[in-house]
Amino acid sequence: MGEVDPAFIQDPEHRPKLSATEAEGIPLIALSPLNSSDNISDPKAIEGVVREIGNACKEWGFFQVINHGVLLDKHKKIKAAARKFFAQPLKEKRKITRDEKSLFGYYDTEHTKNVRDWKEVFDFTVEEPMLMPASIDPEDKEETKWTNQWPEYPPELRVACEEYTEEVEKLALKLMGLIALSLGMPGDRFTSYFKDQTSFIRLNYYPPCPSLQLALGVGRHKDSGALTVLAQDEVVGLEVKRKRDGEWIQVKPTPNAYIINVGDISFWSNDRYESVEHRVLVNSERGRFSIPYFVNPAHYTLVRPLEELAHEQEDPAKYKPYSWGKFLSHRKLSNFKKHNAENIQLYHFRVSE
Ligand code: OGA
Ligand code: NI
Repeated sequence: MGEVDPAFIQDPEHRPKLSATEAEGIPLIALSPLNSSDNISDPKAIEGVVREIGNACKEWGFFQVINHGVLLDKHKKIKAAARKFFAQPLKEKRKITRDEKSLFGYYDTEHTKNVRDWKEVFDFTVEEPMLMPASIDPEDKEETKWTNQWPEYPPELRVACEEYTEEVEKLALKLMGLIALSLGMPGDRFTSYFKDQTSFIRLNYYPPCPSLQLALGVGRHKDSGALTVLAQDEVVGLEVKRKRDGEWIQVKPTPNAYIINVGDISFWSNDRYESVEHRVLVNSERGRFSIPYFVNPAHYTLVRPLEELAHEQEDPAKYKPYSWGKFLSHRKLSNFKKHNAENIQLYHFRVSE
């Protein structure tokens, strides 16, 4: 990637303050009790962990987990393959560029002019094929299948991605169980939503950037799904907006930890938990890799505050129901349209007060 595009400079969101507060970090939670009881069916054994997760979701919307049981060598393999993939010339990588027909694959900032982040991306679905609505028309009940594009090089990338997915999926679903428990619901409350999950995984590469004040790796945003399980490397960059005072807080890399954040679908909890803004700063000397797993429900899920948490009288539902699949396809397809309209966001479904 070459010079900074002037488009980066005009947008104040792309002009980070360089002095983020480092005083207090997001909570670090050890999941070791889950490894010994092996599942979440014994509430007593994991009470402490559930409480920590509940507090972290409420106060930060973010936390890190260690002793999570994900096999380190699967993580090493996917990272090594990702490095090889991104090290290729643009021309090679662009052979599998995302387009209107293949919604997963590669893209870079220079190619997609409406995306102004300083990064390159390769993404793929967790379930292949991924079941989705055929159109964004709310009346249309037809389904379609979204598939992946795999690069020729490196040949081991596909297997590395598939093996990694299998590992992290277990952690992701376990965490959804712990979150359900922390809201006073049964541990399997969310299980059925993930049967035909529309989750996807992204390999992010943030190349070294010559102009720290002018660009961001990713501008501030919230994740739209249920949960994100992120592996980051040792290069700092991720910052989280602290709910308490709106300060940007750096997430210091902890070896072998995963960073977890609740997405917009946490309004399942009727605002007990809320998604939180975060962003990624660029680094002038070192490229940075990260691998988020965006945990999303089946497309036919009607997302709305759960009945047991939104009682008509005391705590009426704060959001209108929406179809997750229609929302996601709208989002994905709008990447390929010249749109002046604001990107669809969760708060469009908020009931005004
Ligand atoms: C994202 C994101 C953070 C990171 O891709 O949504 O927030 O550290 N990534 O790469
Ligand atoms: Ni994000």
